[in-house]
Amino acid sequence: MPENADQTSLRKKEHIELCLTDDVAFREKKNGFDNYDFENYAITEVDLSKINFETSFLNKKIKYPFLISCMTGGTPSSENINARLAVAANNLNIALGVGSQRQALENDEYHNTYRIIRKNAPDVPILGNLGASQVVQLQSFEPVKYLVNQVEADAMVIHVNPAQELMQNKGEPDFRGLLKKLRKLVKYLDVPIIVKEVGAGISRKAAERLLETGVKGIDVAGAGGTSWSGVEILRNNGNSNHLFWDWGLPTSYCLREVAKLKKKYKFMLIGSGGIRHGFDIAKSLALGGDLAASARVILQTLEKSGVDGVSKLIEDWFETVKQIMFLTGSQTISQLRNNKLVKKENLY
Ligand SMILES: Cc1cc2nc3c(=O)[nH]c(=O)nc-3n(C[C@H](O)[C@H](O)[C@H](O)COP(=O)(O)O)c2cc1C
Repeated sequence: MPENADQTSLRKKEHIELCLTDDVAFREKKNGFDNYDFENYAITEVDLSKINFETSFLNKKIKYPFLISCMTGGTPSSENINARLAVAANNLNIALGVGSQRQALENDEYHNTYRIIRKNAPDVPILGNLGASQVVQLQSFEPVKYLVNQVEADAMVIHVNPAQELMQNKGEPDFRGLLKKLRKLVKYLDVPIIVKEVGAGISRKAAERLLETGVKGIDVAGAGGTSWSGVEILRNNGNSNHLFWDWGLPTSYCLREVAKLKKKYKFMLIGSGGIRHGFDIAKSLALGGDLAASARVILQTLEKSGVDGVSKLIEDWFETVKQIMFLTGSQTISQLRNNKLVKKENLY
């Protein structure tokens, strides 16, 4: 039986609490970036002072190709989290995703937890969010338009999360009719749709089916960071030896594969899932991502060091990316994408 509004809110609260720990990380599986190294370019002539990360995303200029991934909303503690994430995103001039707005369709109680985002981040791209398992149940798309307006979203994110739904107590692992619904939703909404996973990755095959429906962005949200199977297994008092804990495709594999579709489709490719530092960001861009994104590490940093801590973290990450660009002879991100990575196995 589907859960009710209070259960949704309680689940969101438990998600935040569990994600503030590292207990929900993948066990053995890695994001895969460590299998690559950058090729040192000993005769670099890059002008460090002229490296500029500014890029256009959803018709807005952002300072870094970076997105704070969709996390929360719909539970009391999420108002304060979203308020501060929004301040950080607006100060840094980067994009920000809202957590699933499902709760806002169930009752009126926590609408401010979502609205605060646009209030505190008036200038940057904001992404709305709803689960695919809700989309397939909709009789009309008016509620989705309502959610777009609620946060004045520049794009709507639909998250696909079959492994999470399958592991979740009272989950809804039923996505029948999804592609058909997406095709219609793309035409109905005035803003583009981006489809993301939540940490189990999107394969090239799946991405191609999605792009055929007209969606304009893919966030691979691959394996190696937060395991959402793991989160739900823990919520069920299961143990970490559960065979599905590490289910998913590593982020680097998804990026490499999905980037190949750029030859055929025009879309935004977002690299996320286990981004830990500037090297991961640089590698995700070098593998073809237009933007990198991160979730749990940002939440943990916010909890520990506040808005300033989040700003510093992201600025430090891009300082590292800048240094990598210098050392690889890349004046621009598109030059960084030009064969600057080597598989470590080829180094020996
Ligand atoms: C506390 C928390 C809540 C999340 N809630 C959502 C959500 O509502 N919708 C969504 O699409 N993804 C959600 N995610 C998933 C993230 O957006 C991201 O895809 C995933 O955690 C993998 O990234 P990471 O390894 O950087 O954490 C959530 C993540 C966290 C940490």
